Amino acid sequence: MRKKQPEALPIRVVGDKVLRSRAEVVDEITDGVRDFIDDLVHTMYLRDGAGLAAPQVGRSLRIFAIDPYYYETKEKQPQIFINPRIVESGGSFTYEEGCLSLPGIFEKVKRPGRVIVEAMSPEGELFRVEAEDYGATVLQHEYDHLDGVLFIDRVAKLRLLPWKRRIRELEGETDDNGVNILADSVD
Ligand code: NI
Repeated sequence: MRKKQPEALPIRVVGDKVLRSRAEVVDEITDGVRDFIDDLVHTMYLRDGAGLAAPQVGRSLRIFAIDPYYYETKEKQPQIFINPRIVESGGSFTYEEGCLSLPGIFEKVKRPGRVIVEAMSPEGELFRVEAEDYGATVLQHEYDHLDGVLFIDRVAKLRLLPWKRRIRELEGETDDNGVNILADSVD
């Protein structure tokens, strides 16, 4: 049975152990997984994210959603990636990144400027997308979340210095179970 209304999921913030774990492969796309994806997409739009990965809402699964151009078009075109693989990458592109799990932190990150990603859709079909520049950045940023990597890991230590205090503050909110939920949860 599918659930009817998607719900907002609380965002996990740096310090939370789920953000630092390698997410699990999705073995079967069940109704439960599809319901979860609806919640993930709902939460992504609610939070104005260009993308959102399952670990960011506390689920250690290899799933992310993106809609890199929604902020421009205001037309919802979510793309869901299940068990994605980066099959090709090249070039380079630098973009100032932010992350819902690192509120208030923005820094330039240099990544490959062109990627081809293969993944499964919620309908169970294998698909391939090619992206460049900003689009490639969003894909790689979300992909990183599935391997426990945050964009600050890709920033030179010196450039991260001004953010150290903010990061420590955020990490300090983590509870004894290794859970760190964004304080201003919306619903
Ligand atoms: Ni992120």
